[in-house]
Amino acid sequence: MALYSEKVMDHFRNPRNVGVIENADGVGKVGNAKCGDIMEIYLKIDNDIITDAKFETFGCGSAIASSSMATEMIKGKPVSEAAQLTNKAVTEALDGLPPQKIHCSVLAEEAIKKALDDYYQKNGESK
Ligand code: FES
Repeated sequence: MALYSEKVMDHFRNPRNVGVIENADGVGKVGNAKCGDIMEIYLKIDNDIITDAKFETFGCGSAIASSSMATEMIKGKPVSEAAQLTNKAVTEALDGLPPQKIHCSVLAEEAIKKALDDYYQKNGESK
């Protein structure tokens, strides 16, 4: 079996939603101290719906594929639903990641949660 699924390779080679959102409603930046990879997620939120999501990931292919898939999964969703997104769901949507690459998908979950925290803070709402 190939180490990486076709979906991982596809999202790594053609990542969706790469970039920055100016005046984003929520921004979340996380890093993994061990591998040194950094992921930043930007959210545009209208009436509690995520209307756009973009990312910049300075990291490995699995981190890029995870951020691409994660941003696709939360676009158009209510913030309450996006807050429930787990790294497990991202990994499953990618048809799996090698065990030593699971932490890359955790970055995506954390970055989205941080961006949502930023949104809640800016809007003075409690979670
Ligand atoms: Fe660290 Fe992938 S190796 S994010």
